[in-house]
Amino acid sequence: MESTLSGAFDYQQLRNDITWDVAERELGHTEGASINIAHACIDRHVEAGRGDKLALVHENHEGELRRFTYRDLMLLTNGWAGFLRGLGIRNLDRVCLFLDRVPELYIGFMGILKVGAVVEPLFSAFGEDALHSRMEDSAAVAIITQRKHLGKVRRVRDRVPSLKTIIVIDHEEDGRPLRDGEVAYSMLANRLETFSVFRAYPETPSVLHYTSGTTGKPKGAMHVHGSIFAQYLTTKVVLDLKDDDIYWCTADPGWVTGTSYGIIGPWALGVTQVVVDAGFSSDRWYQTIDNHRITVWYTAPTAIRMLMKDGLDPVKRHDHSSLRHMCSVGEPLNPEAVRWGREAFGLDYHDTFWQTETGSIMITNLPGMPVKPGSMGRPFPALEAAIVDPRSGEPITSPGRVGLIALRPPWPSMMRTYWNNSATYYGKFLNGWYICGDQASLDADGYFWFCGRDDDVINTGGHLVGPFEIESALLEHEAVAESAAIGKPDPVNMEVVKVFVALRPGFAPSADLELSIMNHVRKRLSPLAMPQEIAFVDKVPKTRSGKILRRVLRAQEMGLPTGDISTMDDN
Ligand code: PRX
Repeated sequence: MESTLSGAFDYQQLRNDITWDVAERELGHTEGASINIAHACIDRHVEAGRGDKLALVHENHEGELRRFTYRDLMLLTNGWAGFLRGLGIRNLDRVCLFLDRVPELYIGFMGILKVGAVVEPLFSAFGEDALHSRMEDSAAVAIITQRKHLGKVRRVRDRVPSLKTIIVIDHEEDGRPLRDGEVAYSMLANRLETFSVFRAYPETPSVLHYTSGTTGKPKGAMHVHGSIFAQYLTTKVVLDLKDDDIYWCTADPGWVTGTSYGIIGPWALGVTQVVVDAGFSSDRWYQTIDNHRITVWYTAPTAIRMLMKDGLDPVKRHDHSSLRHMCSVGEPLNPEAVRWGREAFGLDYHDTFWQTETGSIMITNLPGMPVKPGSMGRPFPALEAAIVDPRSGEPITSPGRVGLIALRPPWPSMMRTYWNNSATYYGKFLNGWYICGDQASLDADGYFWFCGRDDDVINTGGHLVGPFEIESALLEHEAVAESAAIGKPDPVNMEVVKVFVALRPGFAPSADLELSIMNHVRKRLSPLAMPQEIAFVDKVPKTRSGKILRRVLRAQEMGLPTGDISTMDDN
């Protein structure tokens, strides 16, 4: 494989220049000194005279706007911290956030950190079992929620013996009586001029994010205050945020993108960010970009594919000339999606690869770096990453050979353990590398190409076929809205490809269409990758963060239990 690159981008220079201590220096941290994420993201800016800068522009479902400056954030997070301290919440206590994307979610997050407690963000769409398993595992002492989710919390509270307090943020709007152990807190009515922020250090626990594994119960990835060094630097270098940017991260803080890059990163840089508490519609999204003059936009491939589904007409109805940088995360970004982005916005979507466990972006297309559609890009310059052999953990350098994505610890935002599950944590390391559990290959230019989760790759007749490749190819077929590809056991070839396909409006399943889709993949990829079987479905099962749950399809296919599906999007 020959290099396909030319141009002036100097990756090696960036590797020399960008090191984690750049972040420490720019955040004013010195060896042995304390650092609290909330202070570094909020009070620091006010102390430096930037208190009047807008930190958060919040738009609710009805389109009403609320604006918060950094000074507002300081007073409101002080209020939260004073209130929590008054409830007896102490450092290292786990406090859950179980809220829609209301301002209290973002500001409460920082209030919890100010008091030194550990934030446990939970998707407000979680059902009882998902809520219960996480709260029980973490032994949470308090949960901050809103009236509409209180019923769910009440139904689990007897099964979470550690839980002392349920905090309801919108009690005034409702007024129905609260029960023992429930307290009302009205954020906007509680501004505190001063609060002595908990003296945290880089190794002090900060955020506990639960993530679903391939098997078993969700695991709690424990992060520390020092993670901000990585979140700051990656936000600056990868998302390219600058002082006058208006930034929009579409991720919910129930998911790590929504905290590392929807709260900590942008505020660490003192940037203005927009939050929209509304469901997806392509018109609403384009309107958001237009109305708020969004300059930097961080989103996910599923969302991009949904935008693609609605075509270019809605794009043209809105002004997106403010946009200057676009990034994507969470699942493979199909080459087709990159090409569509170019057509729609005249910009590249920059893929970023990372995990709940890594806490910040690890492999990425940096600004200015030539984007190869379908590639995740290269390691963040401060980081050493490789493709390793699954057995030996030795780096594989020959281009095109598939192995495991491996990252060299430590880096500041690496999880410090899985809560209550250190055995699983230690099992993630091999030969001095942290193993992500994903398969990929390198090309001659050092770009990473994603194949699939370690357990998703289809082995057909001894040849590995990436489901992502198949799904990307399928997306290019005019009838396909979305799809998932799995390996189906086969007595001759070990596995054959089976695909689940949701059709675009106006197309109906038929034998001819099946044939046409099969041929399309055969032509696009290879006879090996051609699906032997096609099932037409209404939708493909996905997590709320948009990852295709192939394991659910695989399990169904084989009549096995589907494992943890608490993050499955059932809308
Ligand atoms: O399989 C990879 C996929 O998502 C996993 C991490 O998921 P989670 O912990 O929920 O964090 C997602 C957001 C950081 C990875 O192990 N993944 C994430 N980003 C990409 C990706 N797969 C392909 N390309 C990506 N850019």
